[in-house]
Amino acid sequence: MITTARFFSFALATILVAGCAGTKKTSSANTIPSLKDAFKDAFDIGTAMNNAQIEERDPAAAVLIPQQFNVVTPENIMKAEVIHTGWDQYNFDMADKLVAYAAKHGIKVNAHTLIWHSQMPAFMRRVKDADSVRQYFNNHINTVAARYDGKVYSWDVVNEALNEDGTMRKSIFLQSLGDDFVVEAFRLAQKAAPNTKLYYNDYNIEQPKKRAGAIALIKKIQAAGVRIDGVGIQGHWRSYDLPLENIEKSIQEFAALGIEVMFTELDLSVLQNPGPVTADVGQTTGYTDRINPYKTALPDSVQQQLAKAYGDLFSLFMKYKSNITRVTFWGLNDGQSWLNNFPVRGRTNYPLLFDRQFAPKPAFYAVIKTASK
Ligand code: G3I
Repeated sequence: MITTARFFSFALATILVAGCAGTKKTSSANTIPSLKDAFKDAFDIGTAMNNAQIEERDPAAAVLIPQQFNVVTPENIMKAEVIHTGWDQYNFDMADKLVAYAAKHGIKVNAHTLIWHSQMPAFMRRVKDADSVRQYFNNHINTVAARYDGKVYSWDVVNEALNEDGTMRKSIFLQSLGDDFVVEAFRLAQKAAPNTKLYYNDYNIEQPKKRAGAIALIKKIQAAGVRIDGVGIQGHWRSYDLPLENIEKSIQEFAALGIEVMFTELDLSVLQNPGPVTADVGQTTGYTDRINPYKTALPDSVQQQLAKAYGDLFSLFMKYKSNITRVTFWGLNDGQSWLNNFPVRGRTNYPLLFDRQFAPKPAFYAVIKTASK
């Protein structure tokens, strides 16, 4: 059975491919502006990529990604649970494919992520003693970071090590290796991947308390004489309450540390969250129709609100273009976003610049407009 999304994806690709071959120029998608070109003097523009996109099995995405983006982040396939399959075993298949894809299209790769308490390899569930955790930590960084040195542009070395109040999260790494595990991760990564940029990545670090925690963490790495090149503010926000003031303060305060500032997982949910506002994949709740109000279409007022929020955000990014090096969207089109399943499974969300048929939304044009202001 061919689903509607698949049909539209195929139809768009046909138009795009025909357009590229110069035989037909009817699709607006073929003539839409390019994000990476529009912002080429300001910062890189990225997207997260899923398996079908990496393997170029998604025809519309295969055309759109190289046209719109100059950097990509693997949404899942370089996480430890995928890449580190046994104590001494690794599966580099998809990551190698990504590197080959990026080389073929002249796109940079931001590798994601070396040390994260979530999505740990299955074999680590049985491991409890500190010595073994230390050994895993060393092996993982030394093997994976070294393999891709010079092949990827950058690594999210440590992901989400902080609590909302700015204290360190009581992860398996903190409990087994102590407070210094973040410094240690960067020290090992620096040695294993001397030609790769090294970043700390987290969500909600634009918020004052968590931001203070991130600044303290970055200063600690710097004070230890260990290299950290940048910080990634994930940017999982909502179109109806964008924290612009805190985002601006974060850019200023992180830039003052002398490192790159990036927005690494940008999406703006249009749906209300039933629980606390977080990107912690462990926190999900049950589905009800009431909390899935836009099942078939997005009302125009909400579409406009989303476009305005994106426009405001990119105007701010342009104001600080000398401090910001990259803005990456967490997914290509609305149908492919993790937000359709978080924090509630099976909702219909609209957080990105391209709709489910890969057509640019009003938000896309609102973003493009900020590039020439
Ligand atoms: O790979 C399996 C597949 O074999 C299986 O059929 C399918 C059934 O549900 O699950 C697949 O794995 C899922 C994977 O996404 C790939 O689709 C996992 O269950 C699911 O938990 C996983 O979710 C990802 C999540 O991180 C956890 O790793 C999301 O796609 C991804 O967008 C999200 O990304 C995180 C960043 O890495 C860190 N910051 C927050 C961000 C959003 O949570």
